[in-house]
Amino acid sequence: MSGKDWSRVDGYLVSALQPPDPALDAALVDSDAAGLPQIAVAANQGKMLMLLAQSVGARRILEIGTLGGYSTIWLARALTADGKLVSLEYEAKHAEVARRNIARAGLAERVEVRVGRGVDLLPGVEGPIDFAFIDADKASNPEYFEGALRLSRPGALIVVDNVVRGGGVTDPAGDANIRGIRRMFELIAAEPRVEATAVQTVGAKGWDGFCLIRVKD
Ligand code: SAH
Ligand code: DHB
Ligand code: MG
Repeated sequence: MSGKDWSRVDGYLVSALQPPDPALDAALVDSDAAGLPQIAVAANQGKMLMLLAQSVGARRILEIGTLGGYSTIWLARALTADGKLVSLEYEAKHAEVARRNIARAGLAERVEVRVGRGVDLLPGVEGPIDFAFIDADKASNPEYFEGALRLSRPGALIVVDNVVRGGGVTDPAGDANIRGIRRMFELIAAEPRVEATAVQTVGAKGWDGFCLIRVKD
């Protein structure tokens, strides 16, 4: 099995379970056209995020790492009727593309994209939050986990993307991103307020994985 097979199966799974979605397709087309990197979550991962957020009845969602707003749209669709999502993004251009994509998806009222470094913006985010998606610079994952936990209500879920990085996560001497992921795992393991697991994935996005953290009641 190779990356080509993983992509073929992702294509099948998405076509089997997910109807065409013009607003999400357009978000990817316009993100590409604006020159953004093609690193949004896959369609089946996006839907998994939506289902997880719906499962906790999310009224307030925090996202760190907006890019073109693809995962943002999935997550905002999970919000309760009075819900709000705040997404933090360092690149002003990414935020601008994202705001257009989010508006086209009919979600402008419920989503706020804030521009700046995640670590600088986190202290200004109002809690309590029900769900967090951490998907920005991986070197800052320890700070992002601590920040999301501080804001979380009991029973909240925190999902962290890209925790496997093609297997690189097992290398203690890896780059700053790998070290950030490993340090985050150490913090999670030592944190009595949470329970967590991490799952490897293959698919259109290659070999990677996500970490699922639940804040105890
Ligand atoms: N969640 C998006 C993908 C995010 S890609 C999706 O799945 O659709 C990672 C994003 O994090 C990029 O847009 C990048 O500009 C942003 N980023 C990088 N460093 C950051 C930082 N220090 N603070 C906030 N965002 C950052
Ligand atoms: C990268 C970032 C991501 O969030 C992702 O899902 C895949 C790749 C990257 O920076 O290469
Ligand atoms: Mg990611």
